Amino acid sequence: MSDLGERLIAAAREAARNAYAPYSRFSVGAALLMEDGGIVTGANVENASYGLSLCAETVAVATASAAGRMREIVAVGIVGGVQDAAGTDPVLPCGRCRQVLNEAADLNRGDLTVYCSGLSGGPVEEYRLSALLPHAFGPKALGLE
Ligand code: THU
Repeated sequence: MSDLGERLIAAAREAARNAYAPYSRFSVGAALLMEDGGIVTGANVENASYGLSLCAETVAVATASAAGRMREIVAVGIVGGVQDAAGTDPVLPCGRCRQVLNEAADLNRGDLTVYCSGLSGGPVEEYRLSALLPHAFGPKALGLE
């Protein structure tokens, strides 16, 4: 695995420590690589009204957007797993988060590298967002850029 992938996964594991996931007890962390080499992170935020829960990737993208950095995202690292368990199976982004990440991809290079791993270790898998969400609908489809 690339140094970049390892760095993003390490940042995602650190971010997952701040997951608010008392209901599922499944912590997820996401780390976005920005154009300047900086990292913006997020973790899942659950709600007593379960369906309102926010995924880690969405929180990370919203954090980047709030800083005016939506167009600077070039890669993402994602980890997840059951809290207090030795989870090493890679977690891939849910369908909604693929769409949220695609918005950032479409505003920048048209694609993102997605690194996925387990909460407490395990292999790092590398994907293209375009392979995880082929034929995506995005801002370019609206003629807005
Ligand atoms: N979750 C994420 O944060 N990202 C994903 O891509 C998949 C699921 C969260 C939502 C919920 O808090 C917990 O994982 C269990 O579904």
